[in-house]
Amino acid sequence: MSRFVQVATKADLPPGTSLCVTVEDKKIALFNLDGAYYAIDDTCSHAEASLSEGEIDGHCVICPRHGARFDIRTGQALSLPAWAPVETYEVRVEGEQILLALG
Ligand code: FES
Repeated sequence: MSRFVQVATKADLPPGTSLCVTVEDKKIALFNLDGAYYAIDDTCSHAEASLSEGEIDGHCVICPRHGARFDIRTGQALSLPAWAPVETYEVRVEGEQILLALG
């Protein structure tokens, strides 16, 4: 069963923004897409780059290093040079708190 860890507050993550959080040595990128919260691994599956620093385009994030697109909702790589997906994490909102499910 997953346990949920508080990682941010709603105020930290306005709509249309992203935020990198470190939880138990994992870097995780949080996104707010029009009030819906998502979490994926922050490190691109292609090389060393922080997806939370990428441009958000609709439901995609564009890797700031080589431009691969990832679906923020599913973690799927949508364009080369990345082909492997990134991990996704369940997000729960409780009041003003944003929580992440960890293994
Ligand atoms: S590091 Fe992300 S596409 Fe290359």
